[in-house]
Amino acid sequence: MQEREQWGSRLAFVLAAAGSAIGLGNIWKFPYITHENGGGSFVLLYLFCIAIVGLPVIIAEMMVGRATKKSPVAAIEELSGKNSPWKIMGLMGVAASFIILSFYAVVAGWVMHYTYLAFSDSFSGMKANQFSEVFNQIFVNPWLNFGWATIFMAITLFIVIGGVKDGIEKAVKILMPVLIVIMILLVINSIFLPNNGFEKALKFIFLPTGGLHGAAILEALGHAFFTLSLGMGAMLTYGSYLDDKTNLFKAGLIVVALDTIIALLACIIIFSIMFAYGGKVSNGAGLVFISLPQEFAKMNGGYFVSIAFFLLLFFAALTSAISLLEVPVAYLIDKGWARKKASFTMGISIWLLSIPCALSNSEFWKNKFASVTMFDFKEKTVFFNKMDYLASNWLLPLGGLLIAVYVGWFISDKLRSEQFKIGSNSERPFHYIPWVFFTAVVSPIIVSMIILIEAEVIDKKAINQFFDGLVGSKTTIKQIHK
Ligand code: PHE
Repeated sequence: MQEREQWGSRLAFVLAAAGSAIGLGNIWKFPYITHENGGGSFVLLYLFCIAIVGLPVIIAEMMVGRATKKSPVAAIEELSGKNSPWKIMGLMGVAASFIILSFYAVVAGWVMHYTYLAFSDSFSGMKANQFSEVFNQIFVNPWLNFGWATIFMAITLFIVIGGVKDGIEKAVKILMPVLIVIMILLVINSIFLPNNGFEKALKFIFLPTGGLHGAAILEALGHAFFTLSLGMGAMLTYGSYLDDKTNLFKAGLIVVALDTIIALLACIIIFSIMFAYGGKVSNGAGLVFISLPQEFAKMNGGYFVSIAFFLLLFFAALTSAISLLEVPVAYLIDKGWARKKASFTMGISIWLLSIPCALSNSEFWKNKFASVTMFDFKEKTVFFNKMDYLASNWLLPLGGLLIAVYVGWFISDKLRSEQFKIGSNSERPFHYIPWVFFTAVVSPIIVSMIILIEAEVIDKKAINQFFDGLVGSKTTIKQIHK
C-alpha cells in the first residue's frame, strides 16, 4: 500500500475545496437560473438551502474523509465493514463524477473557445445576430465541441496525475488567487458602468420582490448540492488528505462562504453589464455565451473585460474538474492502483463518455441517434441536458441525503464529536448539537421532500399553487428596466 498523500497546509485544503466548489455552477449556471426564476426571491431561497442543508452536509462529508483518510467506498468499508450496503453510496459518487465531468468538460470546452475568441478580439466587430450564430456554431459543430472538450480533459488529467501536493495543490495555489483578483477587478468595473447598471443589478439580486414558481425550490436545492460539490464524495475525498489539526466547522464555513460570495459577485458582474447596456437576456446557457459577449462589444475596454471574464470562468471550471476526476481516481488508488495508471484509466473513460455529450447537439448525432433515448426525462431531450438534469436533480441530492443520514444516524457519536472538536478550544463546542440536528434531522427531511416532489409522489401542482399563493407573480428583467 502506498502512503496516503496529504495537503501541504490548511490553506491548501481550503483553496482546493473552494476551487472544487467554485466552478461553472457559480459563474455560468447560478446567474441564469437566478434570472429564469426572477431574481431576489430565488436568491433568498437558495441562501436558505445553502445554510441549512449545504453547510451541515459539507462538514459531514469532510468528516468521513478525514476520519478514515480514505475515498468514499473505502471509507465506508472502514467505518461500517466490507459488506455494508452503504458502499452503494460511495459507488454512486464515482458514477456521478463520470456523469458530471462528461458534460462539464463540454461546457468548459465552450469556455475555452470563448477565451480564445476574446483574446483574438472577435466580439468587437460582430453584429447583434452574429452572437447567437457563434454560439450555435460551437453548440452544433461536433469537431469544435469535441476538440475543446478533449483539450480540457487533457489539462485536467495532467494536473491530477501530479498527485495531491504536486498536482492539485500547486494548481489551486496559482489559480484560486488569480480567480479572486479577476473577480474583484470585474466587480469594481461593474460599479462604473453606465445607466445605473450596478444599482439595478443589486436590486434584482437582493430585493425579494418577485414570486417563485414551485419548481424553484427543486432548482435551488439541487443547485446548492451542485455548487458545493456535495453528494458525490468530492469533499469527502479532499477531506481524506487533511491533517488531524484543522477544525472542520471553520473549514466548511469558509468554503461555503467563499462559494456563496463568488456566486453572488458573478451575478452582480453579469447583471450590471446586462442592465447597463439594456441587452436582451437569453435564457439558459446563452446568458454567458450569447448575451454577455454582445454587451462586451459595446463596452469601453470590453476587450479586456471579456478576456478577464472568460479566463475567470476557465480557471473556475478547471479547479472543479480536478476534484471531479480525483474522486474516481482516489477510488482506484484505494484499491491499490498507482496514481498514474488510475488517472489515465479514469481520465480516458470519462473522456469517452464526454463524446456523446459533445456531439449530442449536432445534426450528425440527431440524424443517427434521434431514436436513442438514454433516459426519458420529459422535455429534457438532449443527451447533454439529461446528464446535467440527472446529476443535479437526482444523484447529488440522493447522495447528499444518504451521507446526511449516514453521519447523522450510523456512525458513533464518539467519532463524530471527536472529529468535530479538533482544532477548537472547547471540549463540547456549542455548535456541535445544532450541527448534528441539522445533519441528522433537518437536511434529510428537506431533501427527501424534494426527491419525493421530483419523483412526483408529491404533486408538483400543489407546490406551485402554494408558492404562487405565497408571493404573487414573477419579476422579470423587463420590469426592473421600467
Ligand atoms: N461545484 C462545481 C461547480 O459549481 C461542480 C462540481 C460538482 C464539482 C460536484 C465537483 C463535484 O461548478
